[in-house]
Amino acid sequence: MATTSADTVYESLKSRLSRVMPDFEIRLKADVAAEILDLKRERNAVILAHNYMEPALFYSVPDYRGDSLELSRVAASVDAEVIVFCGVRFMAETAKILSPERTVLLPASGPAGCSLAASITAEDVRELRRRFPGVPVVAYVNTYADVKAEVDICCTSGNARAVVESLDADTVIFLPDEFLARNVARETGRNILVARPGGEVEAIPGGDGNGMLVGWNGRCEVHELFTAEDVATARAQFPDVVVLAHPECPPEVVDAADFSASTSAMTRFVEESDAPHFLLLTECSMGDNIAAANPDKDMLRLCSHRCPHMAEITLEDVRNALLHDRQLIELPEDVRRRAHRSLQRMIAIS
Ligand code: 13P
Ligand code: SF4
Repeated sequence: MATTSADTVYESLKSRLSRVMPDFEIRLKADVAAEILDLKRERNAVILAHNYMEPALFYSVPDYRGDSLELSRVAASVDAEVIVFCGVRFMAETAKILSPERTVLLPASGPAGCSLAASITAEDVRELRRRFPGVPVVAYVNTYADVKAEVDICCTSGNARAVVESLDADTVIFLPDEFLARNVARETGRNILVARPGGEVEAIPGGDGNGMLVGWNGRCEVHELFTAEDVATARAQFPDVVVLAHPECPPEVVDAADFSASTSAMTRFVEESDAPHFLLLTECSMGDNIAAANPDKDMLRLCSHRCPHMAEITLEDVRNALLHDRQLIELPEDVRRRAHRSLQRMIAIS
């Protein structure tokens, strides 16, 4: 069988990454990427990569790149024996839920968790259903399979508003990201309550009274750290900066930004804009990936806030996953089937 030339991979990576990575590192990564491309062929595997992956991985081995929604759609339709999902665990689980007959591998050196997914359990959802009988429940895709199995429909940052509006209900439970819920409530003119795990419910001021969202108090440990002051400081230093904030940021940060949307929508925004400076309030690697593809644009990013879970996935882990079938994603069939229904409803409306 033909083997991939590491020199060819190196030249291709160098043309993309020489502005963001030193040459010796590009060389090392190219050797690993070449091995992966051979393994991928041998195993009839497809590699999916979230926009937060490190640049050397992002620009070498994936067949598909994107945000959570785009990658769920791909996972539901790919025709390969193996899916290697370069993203955190809930994303790999989503691929397994949608493609149960495939081997799904999570190429991570650790658990690859997510503070949002860890913030809520299936029992929390059942308890909320007892407290708010008959109210439809939306789960952000950043949840584990057993939580997805308890809800009516899933959403991502790319379709949260459309999913809430599709329900045609006055009150909607929206879990588990408090800030995303508050941002969606503002977009849809709804009031918002935030349910705390102990049973306390807090009403957040604002909203136009066009219905109610009931949120949960999960937070993304990265996006919750960005502040409106960060935005003001950057604007003082770079008056022409265009500020992009992921909707997992607090509402006052989204308000202070010029644009807020999913990771892929933010990427497209930069590509299509003529502005010279951007401040990206999301995981820092995505700034590297955008900078690599847009050499005429300056990407400012606050890299002191990183997602430690996404950083558990590297090119070396992808090679190990394909060599040793790890980490193999497996789910109880009953949970998978019920979670599939929630994801399928989301895919059908978006
Ligand atoms: P996207 O769905 O916008 O890619 O976001 C996923 C995520 O985990 C952001 O922190
Ligand atoms: Fe989870 Fe936040 Fe990391 Fe995204 S950035 S995977 S929401 S912890």
